[in-house]
Amino acid sequence: MSDKRPSWGSKLGVMLAAAGSAVGLGNMWRFPFSTAQNGGGSFLLIYLICAFSIGLSLVFAEAALGMKVRSDPTDAFGWISPKLRFIGVLCVLTSIVILPYYSVVGGWILAYVFKVFTFSSGEDFNAVFNDFSTATTEPLIYFLLYLTATATIVYFGIQNGIEKFSKVMMPLLLVLLVVLMVRVLMLDKAWDGVVFFFRPDFSKLTGETMLNAMGQVFFSISVGMGIYITYGSYVKKDSVTVCQLMWPVIVLDILVSLLAGLTVFPAVFSFDVPINAGPSLIFITLPQIFVSIPFGRFFGFMFFVILLGAAATSSISLLEVAVTFMCDQLKMTRRAAVVRFSVLCLTIGTLVSMSFGRLSGFTVAGKNLFDQFDFLASNILLPTGGFLTCIAIGWVLGCDKLVVFQNKFLQRCFTLCIKWIAPAAIVLILLKGLNIL
Ligand code: PHE
Repeated sequence: MSDKRPSWGSKLGVMLAAAGSAVGLGNMWRFPFSTAQNGGGSFLLIYLICAFSIGLSLVFAEAALGMKVRSDPTDAFGWISPKLRFIGVLCVLTSIVILPYYSVVGGWILAYVFKVFTFSSGEDFNAVFNDFSTATTEPLIYFLLYLTATATIVYFGIQNGIEKFSKVMMPLLLVLLVVLMVRVLMLDKAWDGVVFFFRPDFSKLTGETMLNAMGQVFFSISVGMGIYITYGSYVKKDSVTVCQLMWPVIVLDILVSLLAGLTVFPAVFSFDVPINAGPSLIFITLPQIFVSIPFGRFFGFMFFVILLGAAATSSISLLEVAVTFMCDQLKMTRRAAVVRFSVLCLTIGTLVSMSFGRLSGFTVAGKNLFDQFDFLASNILLPTGGFLTCIAIGWVLGCDKLVVFQNKFLQRCFTLCIKWIAPAAIVLILLKGLNIL
């Protein structure tokens, strides 16, 4: 591709920007409630196994392809075989499904940045969140603000934006999370939460929980929709190996999920919060902590701001995949692409936001629109994208064309994973989870 293609400013910049796409609401918001709904420790175990096998090899494979072809996913898969260009289109479709509901939750976080100052101890945070999320106008306003902010950053060009942003946000997030976790672990009954988080309950290990754990890996690590192809395409040629750049994606993603679990579950047990609260879990547990520790509200404000930053680096990557596609393939200007895609997401997101209130009666297979979108994206679209990526790279191209590791043994493990283990596991878990097997 052309030499005029923008590139990242530094190695650390790519590492943190890629990790910034992975680390986000998936770790802090989705992981704790998914773990709670799927039986604690056993879910964690499957999550870790899938992350180190399927997740890791897919991150490396996607990034290697992007670094080699230096173009958007449609061209990247088209380079492997013109018949595979459709996988690039699937990446954009996935972004149409994820970005709207992700931004609805982003809007909730934004609202809590301000709300945290009005909280008082003894308040029923379950009711507070319920009243807020089932209303129509207020969540919609925050959703609109969040999406506009995301669109603005992407419109102004993200090379400088994302990189600088991630370099500040990621270390801050880690430090704050560790401080918060230590404080929470000192609460009464905190240990019960730690036990719940780590003790595997194999009776809860069904096809559905395995599908959910795999879905969590895909969502949390951002694989299966060409994000690392896109980010990899901005790496200067031959400057570094894939592994040197991408290892923080997996390490930080798992680390932040563990820290989130070790913060939320001890708080859940300590404050007697309903453990099956679902998507509202952190909006109930975190405020409980912030009203009960010294300087808690200020601390809470900082925390939600950082969480917002972590969410933003993920939404930017979601939007960037679609915008790059619209610019490269449909020959639109960046501005037109950002505006059109954002308006589309705004329309879909409005319906998703209202699915907690006015449209809550509208359900498909017992799930409201929000849950349907989350299920479709994490459990179907991302694994399908991941499966197709494995087939394209492992079977059509051949892993020997993408050197991920200098070490021969590690390269062989990578090949084994992309060719056999990951695609087989994805198909098996998909079929079992959907009750086809
Ligand atoms: N991985 C992001 C998170 O954990 C969400 C995401 C999914 C981002 C898919 C991009 C693609 O919040």
